[in-house]
Amino acid sequence: MHIDDAKPGPEHMTETTIPAPQVLLAEVTHRCPLQCPYCSNPTELIKKDIEISTADWARVFKEAAELGVLQVSISGGEPAARRDLTELIRAARDADLYVNLITSGIGITKSRLDNLVDAGCDHIQLSLQDVDSDGAKLISNLNQSLERKLEFANWVAEMGVPLTINAVMHRLNLDRLPETIELAQQLGARRLEIANVQYHGWASLNKHVLMPTQEQSDKTNQIVADARVKLQGQLLIDYVPVDHYAEYPKSCMNGWGRVALIVAPDGSVLPCHNATTLEHLTFPNALDQSLGTIWYESHAFNIYRGDAWMPEICKTCDRKEVDYGGCRCQALAILGDASAADPVCSRAHPHALVVANDHVSQGYEVGTEKQITYRPNS
Ligand code: FES
Repeated sequence: MHIDDAKPGPEHMTETTIPAPQVLLAEVTHRCPLQCPYCSNPTELIKKDIEISTADWARVFKEAAELGVLQVSISGGEPAARRDLTELIRAARDADLYVNLITSGIGITKSRLDNLVDAGCDHIQLSLQDVDSDGAKLISNLNQSLERKLEFANWVAEMGVPLTINAVMHRLNLDRLPETIELAQQLGARRLEIANVQYHGWASLNKHVLMPTQEQSDKTNQIVADARVKLQGQLLIDYVPVDHYAEYPKSCMNGWGRVALIVAPDGSVLPCHNATTLEHLTFPNALDQSLGTIWYESHAFNIYRGDAWMPEICKTCDRKEVDYGGCRCQALAILGDASAADPVCSRAHPHALVVANDHVSQGYEVGTEKQITYRPNS
């Protein structure tokens, strides 16, 4: 963290400084060949004709680096849907950023991958829907998606590019978690992110299909704990548990406006993936203002920084520097108030609150595409 770059905070904050951002998530397009029903893109996808240009992205990368950002994750949708992906990676590298490409691997040939790596791609994060071919098809709504990913992962290994497998887990694939961990090892991944679905946006439309049972959740916690011990020094495992069964909220985005900023395909700058669901906020655009002005001065980034916005129970809580008040989007979606304590928090709410909200998932028979609302390709 660039403490030297810290600037005075707005008057309403009780913290005295705003730290410089460290991570930029560049969502360069919302187009995607896959249709995952838990996609983190908003339900209102941004169309191709208002995506910002290569030159605009190059300026965004430069401004981000000047602001203190060290790493850019180039993501989508599927970033390979942009024909200028090689130029975007080169521009990010020219700005001295560490370049992480978050991809499904679909639509990237071996020679294109060569070009991306030559242009400066430092690290690849490959999403995995399932280790079972039919399961992967059910979630991605694309035939042979698993097989194509495995081929891509082998190319990445041959080129010696560091690989992270990003396995999104839910009711339909959690029972195959041990095989998922095994596959990550076989593919030569250095890091495995086991991320349970976060129930916002598309995922909230598919909660009845995707929400795991309490039993699955408990089992998963144990499997991850055991694997971390067994694979220490071989595979780094990051874990996002099933939020709804947790006792305390997650530190969503590591706190609003604390560490990361997201630039959407049209240049909007957001503090989190789902921020546009907070309709009382207006989000600035990188085409109109510098990232620095947006990060330090915009109302949208300042509103949930510090603790002035918090209800009393959070303001006086010893965990407020751990979870930073939890998730604002979840508070709005479940409680109708973006400033409320995160509904997951058992200190602030009856513990059954969120689970009760999910009664529909209990005992529900799942397994066909008819029960799924897929996100469209574009
Ligand atoms: Fe928006 Fe958590 S997803 S604050």
